[in-house]
Amino acid sequence: MTIQQLSLNGFRSIRKLTLELDALNVVIGPNGCGKSNLYKAIHLVHAAAEGRLSAALAQEGGIQKAMWAGGPRRGDKARAPKRMILSTRLDDFDYELQLGYPEPSASLFSLDPLVKEESLWLAGHGRRPSTLLLERRNQAAFLSGVDGERNAYPASLRAEESIFGQLAEPHRYPELSQLRETLRNWRFYHEFAVWPGSPLRAPQVGIRSPVLAHDGANLAAAFQTIVEIGDRELLRHVLAEAFPDSHFQVDAAQGRFQMLMQREGLLRPLEAAELSDGTLRFLCLAVALLSPRPPSFLALNEPENSLHPALLPALARLIAEASRYSQIWLTSHSPALAEMIRRHRPLKIFPLALKDGETTLAEEA
Ligand SMILES: Nc1ncnc2c1ncn2[C@@H]1O[C@H](COP(=O)(O)OP(=O)(O)OP(=O)(O)O)[C@@H](O)[C@H]1O
Ligand SMILES: [Mg+2]
Repeated sequence: MTIQQLSLNGFRSIRKLTLELDALNVVIGPNGCGKSNLYKAIHLVHAAAEGRLSAALAQEGGIQKAMWAGGPRRGDKARAPKRMILSTRLDDFDYELQLGYPEPSASLFSLDPLVKEESLWLAGHGRRPSTLLLERRNQAAFLSGVDGERNAYPASLRAEESIFGQLAEPHRYPELSQLRETLRNWRFYHEFAVWPGSPLRAPQVGIRSPVLAHDGANLAAAFQTIVEIGDRELLRHVLAEAFPDSHFQVDAAQGRFQMLMQREGLLRPLEAAELSDGTLRFLCLAVALLSPRPPSFLALNEPENSLHPALLPALARLIAEASRYSQIWLTSHSPALAEMIRRHRPLKIFPLALKDGETTLAEEA
């Protein structure tokens, strides 16, 4: 199930923005224009489905910092309450989360968000009462159940979390559960932990891992999983293209896995702890993009960071390949990377700009 449309209001530099997505989406623009903010906004929807909305917002400094810091603009409803609105239309469902500030005097937890409204419609027929599956105001919700009946949800909801993290008996609400599963399975890669002493540089107990962890910690296990049940040939091919004088494999002494690189001219293989940051980052990207269990949606934030331009063709090929199975969201500073991907697959470019402190869609150059 792919994302058709994203509509965001009031999140960091995004005052109001609607984007129609394709299968392969590339977000470009100068430093500070809001590329990462868009990525984070989508991540917030994922976090809401996992029941971690307030924790994810805390990483942004809490609702106070995450909310658009500007005032109302022309065309805004006068004195409208301040809201952050995250709206996602997928193939089958249209989901919207509206967050506001907590009551100032009610509690010391002043950085928690307050879920003001949460709604779900069946997509394709507009937002009408007849397509409404979930209608939540504050801590009370009405839900369409498996019998098609619309009933009040029997429990009072936690004010600072989405209903997704609180839904008891999910089989009674099949559409909501299906959407929750879809959103939970979205995958995000922002930064890989390649610094000295990080887990991916040390041998680890290897367990079958069709999904690379968000920080790449299980790199060797995820690599070996592709070798055993995934597209081993493509992995080998892409790595040979990226590092022509090297060969990669997993060392599994006593069941503890780590990456090894055998380079021409060296008498022994190099261990993960000895590999360069860029080499490990590229390995993480390759393993993330060739996952034997691809997600419906995969977001990468500036994957070309600290990669030499010579690696871009191989990265472009990996991204194009992954877009056969997953909708791709890519933020990038590299027009060259976008051009190389385009040679494999059609893509949609979103050029962003910052205008009067707000993220806008610039005209494509
Ligand atoms: N609450 C907020 N209200 C308004 N603007 C904000 C808010 N929080 C952050 N910003 C602005 O958002 C911008 C940062 O956006 P973001 O990190 O998405 O940039 P980027 O396009 O990813 O840049 P880079 O290429 O440097 O990574 C900055 O200009 C910052 O001032
Ligand atoms: Mg950024």
